[in-house]
Amino acid sequence: VESGEAPIGVFDSGIGGLTVLRALRDELPNERFVYLGDTARLPYGTKTAQTVVRYAVQAAQALAHEAVVKCIVVACNTASAVGLSAIRARLAGLPVIGVIEPGAHAACSATRSGHIAVIGTERTVRGGAYQEAILRRRHDARISALAAQLFVALAEEGLNDGPVAESVVRHCLAPLFAPPAALPGNGDAPHSTPDTLVLGCTHFPMLSTAIRAVVGSEVAIVDSAATTAHAVHAALAASQRLASAGAGAVRFLATDGAERFARVGSRFLGSPIDADEVRLIDL
Ligand code: DGL
Repeated sequence: VESGEAPIGVFDSGIGGLTVLRALRDELPNERFVYLGDTARLPYGTKTAQTVVRYAVQAAQALAHEAVVKCIVVACNTASAVGLSAIRARLAGLPVIGVIEPGAHAACSATRSGHIAVIGTERTVRGGAYQEAILRRRHDARISALAAQLFVALAEEGLNDGPVAESVVRHCLAPLFAPPAALPGNGDAPHSTPDTLVLGCTHFPMLSTAIRAVVGSEVAIVDSAATTAHAVHAALAASQRLASAGAGAVRFLATDGAERFARVGSRFLGSPIDADEVRLIDL
C-alpha cells in the first residue's frame, strides 16, 4: 500500500480529463497529481471496445510506471465504460476509480421525474454502462441515450460557445429534446422530455454554455467531475491515505503535442499550463 504522500494518477484520451483534474484539485488541495493525456490516440470514443481496453490498460500502466501513484482515476467515460475491470486486473492492489458510477450517482440525485438523458461518445453510449449504472440506482428511471461524438472535436478545437458550437449542439441534441413522440425509447410511454442531462464525456463540460442555451433553464445538467472527486476523497479517507500537506502540484504527461496540450488544456483546467511542463511519453 502506497503512502498518503504519493501522487494520484489521472488519465484521459486527451485533455477532457482536465475537467476532472480541476474538480480533484478543488476537492483535494493537498494532493499531488500526475496527469496523462493520450493525445496521440484520441479519440477513444469511435474505436472498438477491444482497442479502448488495450489503450486504457497501457495508459494506466504507464502512469503506475511513471510514479508510485496511490490510486488511479480514469477521467474518461469511454475508458471507464469498457476498461475498468481490465485495468483493475492488471494493477491489482491499486485502487482504480472511474467516472461512470459517480456520474450515474449525480444523475439520480438531480432528476425529479426519473427521465434522464445521457450523452457521451459512441463507444460509451453503445456499451450501455451508464444505462446500467443508473438503473441499478433507480429501477424506474427512463433513459434516453445519444452519442454526441462531434462534441469531442468541438471541445478539442476550443470551440466552446458561440454560433458554431450552439448550432452543432442544437443539431445533435434535437432527438433528445424534440417533440416527445420522436424521442428514442419513448415508445407508447406517456409523453415527457428528460429533466436531467448527463454529460457522459469529460470533454463535454467545456460546452456547457452552448448546451445550456440549447436545452433551456429547466433541465439539470450534470457531469461526473465533482462526484468523482468526492468518491476519490472518500476512498483515500477510508484507507487513511489523504496527503497531509502538498502544494496541489501536477505533473503533465502526453503522448503527442505538448504545445497543443498546454494551449487548449489550459482552458479545460481553468489555469495556465506551460508547454515546457508537459513531458511526452510513448505508451
Ligand atoms: N473524454 C473522453 C470521455 O470522457 C472521450 C473522448 C474521446 O472520444 O476520446 O469519454
